[in-house]
Amino acid sequence: MYKSISVNKNRSVNILDQRLLPFQHKYVTTSDYKEVIKLIKSLAIRGAPAIGVAGAFGCYFALKDLKNKKNYKSSIRKYLNQIEKARPTAVNLSWSVKRFKIIISDYKNLSYLDCLELFYKEANKIYNEERKVSERISINGLKLIKNHFKILTHCNTGALATTGPGTALGIIDKANKKFKNISLYATETRPLNQGSRLTVWESLMKGIDCTLICDSMASHIVNSECVDIVIVGADRIAMNGDTANKIGTYQLAITANYHKIPFYIAAPISTFDMNIVSGRDIVIEERSKDEILKLNNIRLSKATKVKNPAFDVTPNSLISGIVTEKGIIVKPNLRKIKKFFK
Ligand code: MRU
Repeated sequence: MYKSISVNKNRSVNILDQRLLPFQHKYVTTSDYKEVIKLIKSLAIRGAPAIGVAGAFGCYFALKDLKNKKNYKSSIRKYLNQIEKARPTAVNLSWSVKRFKIIISDYKNLSYLDCLELFYKEANKIYNEERKVSERISINGLKLIKNHFKILTHCNTGALATTGPGTALGIIDKANKKFKNISLYATETRPLNQGSRLTVWESLMKGIDCTLICDSMASHIVNSECVDIVIVGADRIAMNGDTANKIGTYQLAITANYHKIPFYIAAPISTFDMNIVSGRDIVIEERSKDEILKLNNIRLSKATKVKNPAFDVTPNSLISGIVTEKGIIVKPNLRKIKKFFK
């Protein structure tokens, strides 16, 4: 069995290098926060919950390697900020780093070694919480599925993107075990192909009947194959329910609404950003234009102007519900989400 990230007895971590999947299965073992940042930026580890966990261990490694141990509280902050900024859209990363900032500010007379121990415990806590949360999301989402359902998903939201069974793909995996004749359409998810490389790989291993489609085929497939439901993950959810997820999600929500089929988000509560009211405030990561211009390092286009936003924002009006570990928020809006969090 594979794990996106695992912890060794000597407190280093093994990170499955998802850039090499599905044909090579290699782990990078590290206890260096700079390497963790590189692995997050390059998408060796990706998916909102998984980068939150990797970032947590990055915080521990940064404190462990700190030169100025005497004034560790003032010197650690800049490294925590670097980790937090490794990817801007998925809120799980800053949510996770904030937990370490809180340790620094809450415990007044903590020695360096005691703080190091607390950091290690906190990183493991985040790892285990994330595992349990994705297990609950997978169970809570089962009520959306029936026998013979055809499901469409986008990007990768399986065990690779979490430390548990996954979010959207976790639900699909459990549904495949519980119901008869479940089938999945997985978009390839251009430009980095998290769908064709990762979701198809995970689905094959789990025995899910999975058909790969190009992103541009989605409306046609929803219509011609009579897809029953679209379920995707999330990177950041505003308090009114507007949801940032992998680029291409918004058009799937539009097609689901046009065809009058439900469009669900599956995400942990750590993906809600309590500080923003609407999707307008979500920072969208713009990645290198080479991801579009090149394929396997071969230049495909002479384009001089290229846009490469890694995420888009789906307005709450297109979302049938958000499946969390604490239940489903149906037709999310500001009032319902505030009430949910109370
Ligand atoms: O750029 P990625 O691969 O990190 O994007 C991942 C997604 O958009 C996922 O849908 C999201 O993080 C949820 S993963 C459970």
